[in-house]
Amino acid sequence: MSITVRPFSPFGAEIIGLDLEDARSLDAQMQDKLRAAWIEHGILLFRNALHSEQAHMRLSRVFGEPQPSAVKRINDESNPYLMTLRQKAGDRSSSTFALFEVDGQERVGWLGWHWDQSFMPEIVRGALLRMIEPARIDGRTGFIDAAAAYDRLPETLKQRIDGLEVVYWFNGAQEQNRFGFPDSLRLLDSHPDREQAQVQFKDDFPQVVHPLVTAQIETGRKILKLSPMHCQHILGMESAESDALLEEIAGYLVDPRHAYFHTWQADDAIIWDNWRVIHSATGVPFDVDRYAQRTTIMGDYKLGRYLDPSQYQRRAGARFDD
Ligand SMILES: [Fe+2]
Repeated sequence: MSITVRPFSPFGAEIIGLDLEDARSLDAQMQDKLRAAWIEHGILLFRNALHSEQAHMRLSRVFGEPQPSAVKRINDESNPYLMTLRQKAGDRSSSTFALFEVDGQERVGWLGWHWDQSFMPEIVRGALLRMIEPARIDGRTGFIDAAAAYDRLPETLKQRIDGLEVVYWFNGAQEQNRFGFPDSLRLLDSHPDREQAQVQFKDDFPQVVHPLVTAQIETGRKILKLSPMHCQHILGMESAESDALLEEIAGYLVDPRHAYFHTWQADDAIIWDNWRVIHSATGVPFDVDRYAQRTTIMGDYKLGRYLDPSQYQRRAGARFDD
């Protein structure tokens, strides 16, 4: 089977001509081709191509070993390797429910820019998102290439951030994140238990440290490895200086001129390289349905660690049920 790898702007590529429901289409040669395209382009888009859970799992395994999410609450009951991302119109029953106003529009399911699981010492390799029921209004997913973002930095800033490390701590309360988040973001309504849920998350996921600059293993290309969501401060730097620097860096990274926002159709799928790409969700109006499923590709780039090394022992016997 021959496929077309069609790059799109500002980055990413669409895979055309691959029948993902036919297991025979993913032979060793095709798998190599897909992995190479993924490393080259950062995100791969498959339009109207993933029609079943089986095909979703099969395509995921091309890029690595699937793993359940660290946040067990969102894993599918019948298949823990599938994460269910569902907004039911008018539903405020989730303990993490939050209604925001962003740029004058009301949205649920809004998520700021992040890489997945930056609150963990390991960083998962990637994720494959499949849209089952697209939102009739909005519900887009945004992607930014953090390798290209590094290239955009002035030389003086590249030198200044060389060797710096960033402390992360779980902060799912979007409105409390400070760097690379829109000034217009306001919390309008939330579940009464949301605050307590956030406290629990902070306890479950202790502070971790990640380098601010990494390199793509396959190419050596440098990556501006900042997750605006969950980031707290630069390790060892006085807070005013750290705040100013993170704000400056986030300004280069979270630049809408360099973002790709995907408007989903049913059975579209995108896999992103979580070591290179950050993503965000624009959310939907409160009365709009949206239903997607995601697999997470296992990985550890081995550059992260707990801020407090004793947490390794604590976590060894821990269960993360939420
Ligand atoms: Fe995410």
